[in-house]
Amino acid sequence: MLSMILCTHLGCVVPWNAAQNKFICPCHGSQHNNQGRVVRGPAPLSLALAPADVDDGKVVFIPWVETDFRTGDAPWWA
Ligand code: FES
Repeated sequence: MLSMILCTHLGCVVPWNAAQNKFICPCHGSQHNNQGRVVRGPAPLSLALAPADVDDGKVVFIPWVETDFRTGDAPWWA
């Protein structure tokens, strides 16, 4: 599984910050933990999820159709 890295605030790409063990958005400072849960706004939602696999040396993403384990709800991004 891999958290997609588009911020739920305005859609900026959110890089992983290994030193802080978080995704930290460079645009307005939102932070998400290692599960993609928002831990500091202004992002209103957790990061979208997508299963990932490596097929013949290429990373392949598959649409997430399961319950969001972080909220127990249907995925907000589906
Ligand atoms: Fe990420 Fe605004 S776009 S905090």
